[in-house]
Amino acid sequence: MPEVQRMTLTQFLIEERRRFPTASGGFNGLILNVAMACKEIARAVAFGALGDRHGSAADGERGAINVQGEVQQKLDVLSNAAFVRVNEWAGYLAGMASEEMEAPYQIPERYPRGKYLLLFDPLDGSSNIDVNVSVGSIFSVLRAPQGADAVTEQDFLQPGTAQVAAGYALYGPTTMLVLTVGNGVNGFTLDPNLGEFFLTHPNLRVPADTHEFAINASNSRFWEAPVRQYITECLAGQSGPRGKDFNMRWIASMVAEAHRILMRGGVFMYPRDTKDPARPGRLRLLYEANPIAFLMEQAGGRASTGRQPLMSVAPAALHQRIGVIFGSRNEVERIERYHTDPADPELPNPLFNERSLFRVSA
Ligand code: F6P
Repeated sequence: MPEVQRMTLTQFLIEERRRFPTASGGFNGLILNVAMACKEIARAVAFGALGDRHGSAADGERGAINVQGEVQQKLDVLSNAAFVRVNEWAGYLAGMASEEMEAPYQIPERYPRGKYLLLFDPLDGSSNIDVNVSVGSIFSVLRAPQGADAVTEQDFLQPGTAQVAAGYALYGPTTMLVLTVGNGVNGFTLDPNLGEFFLTHPNLRVPADTHEFAINASNSRFWEAPVRQYITECLAGQSGPRGKDFNMRWIASMVAEAHRILMRGGVFMYPRDTKDPARPGRLRLLYEANPIAFLMEQAGGRASTGRQPLMSVAPAALHQRIGVIFGSRNEVERIERYHTDPADPELPNPLFNERSLFRVSA
């Protein structure tokens, strides 16, 4: 079989940098360090139970409950440590923030400080580890405000539109790195023999239309009316107001759902609901929602809270949660219309809702 000449991640970044002749190369170094952390995590995940890293971090490991009040898995702790260790020394960063760390991480004094901020969810979907379902790492790069000695929470509270780069690594049957540097979205597959990411999915585009949605339907009694209305219509299928059958998926690993949508379209919703008034949504704005929103929009899709574009939200706290809707553009826009314009004539006939599985109430 003839060898296919593929571009490595390093070559891709160097060629991207040629568009910016004054760039120092620091940004490329940062992305390569992130990729290195992801390779380390991929290997730890792939060893599974053989690596003695399954289960919660409760027994003797640092912190059993993270800042979100969630049980930390051993691999959460290990993945967070990998991100920190691989990224702290190089002089590209002014600080880091992670789902697994309550406060911003300061670059130790022995290392030079750089001009970027790195935010990450080191292991998204980690409740799936013990059942051998895909998990991933999500990251976002911001510019650090200039002048400060130590980073503060405030430095990280920038809207998604300020992101310089974002991406994720997916630890599935293959390990992939999917990246945007603000010039489209590209997917790289890890060659486990060479330990190198190769460009396999150039210029990813999310189809504008879809017949696939992803939502945790066990929360349906807590959904707000526009979401219930949308799902009711989808479930009604061909004989309903949408006139077509829909398919549903729920992996409970947002990074894997985002990947599916980048590959073939679809819509993902973890919307704001009434389950817990203290938690306006499940997912975290700065290191889960915003990076995925940046990828979606760079691939021609859309990302929203239902009420406003996700990346326009002004963050109020480092670990802020938010309602998240992303994917195929026409579908996300439809859901936005249901939030902002309930009088839309496309809304279903109330009689129809009487017969539906999930009733739409005012
Ligand atoms: O980070 C949170 C997360 O694991 C996401 O990856 C995923 O979409 C969601 O939680 C699953 O939540 P639930 O358990 O409510 O389905």
